[in-house]
Amino acid sequence: MNGKVAYAAVFCLLAAFPMAALAQPQVVPLPRPVLPGEPPPTLPSGPLPWTDKSLPADARADLVQAYITRDEELTLVRGYFGVNYPWTAKIYPEAIRNVLPGSAGYVPGIPRLGIPALSESDASLGVANGRHMRPGDQAVALPSSLLTAATWNGGLAYAGGAMIGAEARNKGFNVMLAGGINLAREPRGGRTFEYLGEDPLLAGIMAGEAIRGTQDLDIISTIKHFAVNDQETGRMTISANLSDAAMRESDLLAFEIAVERGDPGAVMCSYNRINNVYGCENDYLLNKVLKGDWGYKGFVLSDWGAVHSTVEAANNGLDQESSFSSDRQDFFGEALAQAVAAGTIPEARLRDMVHRILRTMFVKGLIDHPIFKQPIDVKTDLNVAQRDAEEGIVLLKNAQDLLPLSLVKRPSRRITIIGGYADLGVISGSGSSQVIPIGNTPSLEILAGGAVWMGPDQTPQIPAGTIILNPPSPYAAIRGLAPWARVVHYDGSNIAKAVALARISDVVIVFAQQWTSEGWDSPDLSLPGNQDELIDAVAGANRRTVVVLQTGGPVLMPWLDKVGAVLEAWYPGNRGANAIARILFGAVNPSGRLPITFPQSESQLPRPVIPGHEQAYSRIPLEGTRSPFDIDYVEGANVGYKWFKAKKLTPLFPFGFGLSYTSFDFGGLRAAGGTTLSVSFEMRNTGKRPGKATAQVYATTPGGVARLIGWSKLDLKPGETRRVALTADPRLLATFDSGANQWRMAEGDYAVTLGESSAEVSASATAHITASTIKP
Ligand code: BGC
Repeated sequence: MNGKVAYAAVFCLLAAFPMAALAQPQVVPLPRPVLPGEPPPTLPSGPLPWTDKSLPADARADLVQAYITRDEELTLVRGYFGVNYPWTAKIYPEAIRNVLPGSAGYVPGIPRLGIPALSESDASLGVANGRHMRPGDQAVALPSSLLTAATWNGGLAYAGGAMIGAEARNKGFNVMLAGGINLAREPRGGRTFEYLGEDPLLAGIMAGEAIRGTQDLDIISTIKHFAVNDQETGRMTISANLSDAAMRESDLLAFEIAVERGDPGAVMCSYNRINNVYGCENDYLLNKVLKGDWGYKGFVLSDWGAVHSTVEAANNGLDQESSFSSDRQDFFGEALAQAVAAGTIPEARLRDMVHRILRTMFVKGLIDHPIFKQPIDVKTDLNVAQRDAEEGIVLLKNAQDLLPLSLVKRPSRRITIIGGYADLGVISGSGSSQVIPIGNTPSLEILAGGAVWMGPDQTPQIPAGTIILNPPSPYAAIRGLAPWARVVHYDGSNIAKAVALARISDVVIVFAQQWTSEGWDSPDLSLPGNQDELIDAVAGANRRTVVVLQTGGPVLMPWLDKVGAVLEAWYPGNRGANAIARILFGAVNPSGRLPITFPQSESQLPRPVIPGHEQAYSRIPLEGTRSPFDIDYVEGANVGYKWFKAKKLTPLFPFGFGLSYTSFDFGGLRAAGGTTLSVSFEMRNTGKRPGKATAQVYATTPGGVARLIGWSKLDLKPGETRRVALTADPRLLATFDSGANQWRMAEGDYAVTLGESSAEVSASATAHITASTIKP
């Protein structure tokens, strides 16, 4: 049947049958699309058949595909960089340049068929506007994702995702480049702040919830970067090497859990190579694992500049080239058309690429619920950011109950705030996730000058960049809560002066920062500049010193014994200062728990020095400017706390750790086995304040690896006790058998521990598990 006859057949079919008859996707014939030079098929009169919301998404996509032309198909699989930059102006047609949304990406729609454009924005921490792509456009900046992971509260991840979704719709975006979930194998990683820590269950649940929140607003969220893109150094050329089994039990398990829970419309494949094959042409990851084993029906889009081929990429699973001008070549343009014409990419494959994109647009509501620009609800959204920050800030030390600071009005009290930006705002991490926050600070942007790590010859080792500060300032927030006190701020540039101020203060609060960014990793785990020296000296002068850390991830604390209290505030977002102040004064009882291990030194890490570190601080190397190198993930699936346990290492602070202003007791542990593990236990607030407890359950497989299998976060009043029950996802008890391509649970007694962290045991039990297998 030639194309025209086929279209005539479809047309007759559509005209002759009531829509209900088309509800089965298989009754719609799939003719070849109209080739260049042929006229587009005439559309049926009346509403377009695929606008019938009662049809399944597959059927609706099939119907569109019955009328689509080849040119239109090619339009959907190739995206533009979303900003009209000089380099793109030279290669983009004017009609496109006029409609670019001022963000990361744009894929034109098909107006003839009522298919909207994909208007894409980065959105890990809010609707991004890095490099002021949309001058003057502000959005609420959520705290870093690592902080959200530290809440151990899926509800907050959902609320953050929904907040982003609502703002995105109102700003005219329908695809969120969000859902960053690369496991923290490298605590010095430049994007550790954008991800959700080191545990696949915690990261998977939090990412899944954030994605669900965003997509409930009838737009698409991605999950990224698929996969094992766990450090920035050499990210475009590195090969991340580890076995199938290890990957399935760690990095891929995080994705798998998040994909099941959040059903992201798209998966962004990563820059790096995985076992020597680039992420965006990786048959194993894209075809076998994602689309095969996991039955994923969404589409795979590339990271910006991550495509390396036409035929391999398309045949091995890439469905859409996100930004062809970021790639070395226009791989999915004319080259793709020719490859399909020549048969090196089968017609069916192109149809599948297009089908996945269209189907997802129907499933996620892009076609039935078009976006309209309107003002965002700033007040509601700022509250979401604040609630997140208040639950994700972690109290790491509190000697002699120095915190919370007294709210008793003693006008003579002198609170000295020391630290670079505490008079201006709280810092944020940089890169494509950068949000331009709501509000103004006297100096919103400052050059990285003072904050960068200086090399041995005192040259900055990190490229100067722009640190975006989120208002309000901690100084203003603290003054707001203690208007009766004498609150002074000093930037800390002269240590002797800081010490003199500390001596005459009732309490000193030092704000220390580690600025991190996409594109480069931190040189080590130390606070940059002379901040360690400053804290040490100030704490030496006044033991009532509180250190508030704003860091991308873990840092070393050589001064820990000297200071009174430490709060890990990560990058706390657009209301971060308020959250910090409310915790300092006890209006909020801290309840964050570490989603990542804090080592005592780099020597405890599987890689004491970052592979490729010689170039670690150079800007994102353009492809080809550095030679490819390998990173062998010797720890396998034992990421973070599992590595520390396997090596019998004691970290500075373990995964799961965090203090409260009250105390808790967990006990009464009962464990039952069988085909999986079910536990129940009691959580009790034994202190004098209400507070949120996070009881964590770890199970040790016969192989000897303790894994987080569940947790319960509860708000408990003083004296209140509650019993909770959890059932483990059996994959957390299993090992992956690559030969048989299935999870395998070994028969045996499994040790279960209940505790306040991965290192603390409040109660333990054993349960007998029977042998079984699970299909991935
Ligand atoms: C990042 C992605 C981001 C994309 C678009 C890339 O450099 O790795 O996370 O979504 O840029 O801005």
